[in-house]
Formats: sequence, structure tokens, C-alpha cells
Amino acid sequence: MADLKLGDVAPDFTADTTEGQLSLYEYLGDSWGILFSHPADFTPVCTTELGTAAKYKPQFDKRNVKMIAISVDGIDSHHEWVKDINETQQCTVNFPIIADPDKTVANLYGMMHPNASDKATVRSVYIIGPDKKLKLLLTYPASTGRNFDELLRVIDSLQLTANQQLATPANWKHGERVVISPSVSDEDADKRWPNNEKVKPYLRLTEA
Ligand code: BEZ
Repeated sequence: MADLKLGDVAPDFTADTTEGQLSLYEYLGDSWGILFSHPADFTPVCTTELGTAAKYKPQFDKRNVKMIAISVDGIDSHHEWVKDINETQQCTVNFPIIADPDKTVANLYGMMHPNASDKATVRSVYIIGPDKKLKLLLTYPASTGRNFDELLRVIDSLQLTANQQLATPANWKHGERVVISPSVSDEDADKRWPNNEKVKPYLRLTEA
């Protein structure tokens, strides 16, 4: 099982998907990416998640994030399942779903957790930066569907803090004040964010 960690390069692969064969890196180009795994086709939680993901696509597009899903079932099964997702979730699945019956991609990304299941992938999320490095890894239990608002919130934080020495506090949402990284001196902080508030020497808040 792969032991991918934050900051590792996301492994590239070529795979069959509901939108034809693709290579991950070619699909992503210079965009950000979100890869999310599903335990299996025709399962209730995953059905709601893929429907929700399809409805959120404009919000991922706005952030320049390409979406791609995976489950270990085959391509014919995926196409049948997509019909059910579109029907029951009133959506049109509008991103590729990888078919991975031999678990090549699942093993590459460490999505197989034998203590959870030896047949199905766990419910994981990988956010990939334009540099192809892993910016977030999350694994949920099969019984808990993902919160797509939280994923957008993390992407907002990642994109805001990618090129600036800023960080986002607990429960932060786009538009709220952020914290200045401890590596920035007060002198520098005052030059770059003149209106920053020094709550404590180590806790300095500013508008982004
Ligand atoms: C689901 O996606 O609904 C699910 C998958 C595996 C176990 C339980 C639920």
C-alpha cells in the first residue's frame, strides 16, 4: 500500500474513465485537482456524493480545480451507475469517474485499507496543486458522506496561502481575516499588512 504524505508528488497514471482513457497529469494540465475515491458503485452514500459533486462543479471550476472520481468497479458498471445518479440526484455527472477493477490506481494512492475492506477503496480525498504535489489528504469512514462546502473552504485556504506567508484560522471562510505566519517579522508584517492587529506577539490578524 502506498504511503503518500502531504507534500509528496501525486503519482501520475493512465486509466479508463467514463469520459475515455486519460492520463492524470494531462487531464490536470496547470490546474488544481481533486481526486476522490468511492468504496463501490451502486452504494447509497456515494450516489449522493457524486450527485452533490456534479452540482458543485461550477464552484470547483471557479477555483480552477479539475474534478475526478474513482471506484474499483468497471466502466460498464460506472456508466449504468451514472444513469442512476443523474436520475436520483437530479444532476448530470460532469466529470470523469475512473474504472479501476484491478486496483492499480487505488494501490498507487493507498486507497485500499485491508482493515476496513479488502474489496473496496476507502472514501478518500486528495487535493493536488498545480505543482502536482498533494496539498490535502482526507479519509472518511464508508458510513460518512463528505462535506463539499468544507472541501471548497480548504481549497480557498490553500489558494490564498500558496504564495503568501498567511494562514487561515479555525472555521475561517473566504473573506474573513487571516493570520500572519510566525516566520514574518513584525517589521515586515507592518510593511506588508499595515493594518494588522497584534492580538499577541504570535497571533497577528489581517485582511487578506
Ligand atoms: C455508501 O457509499 O453508501 C457505502 C459504501 C460502503 C459501505 C457503506 C456505505
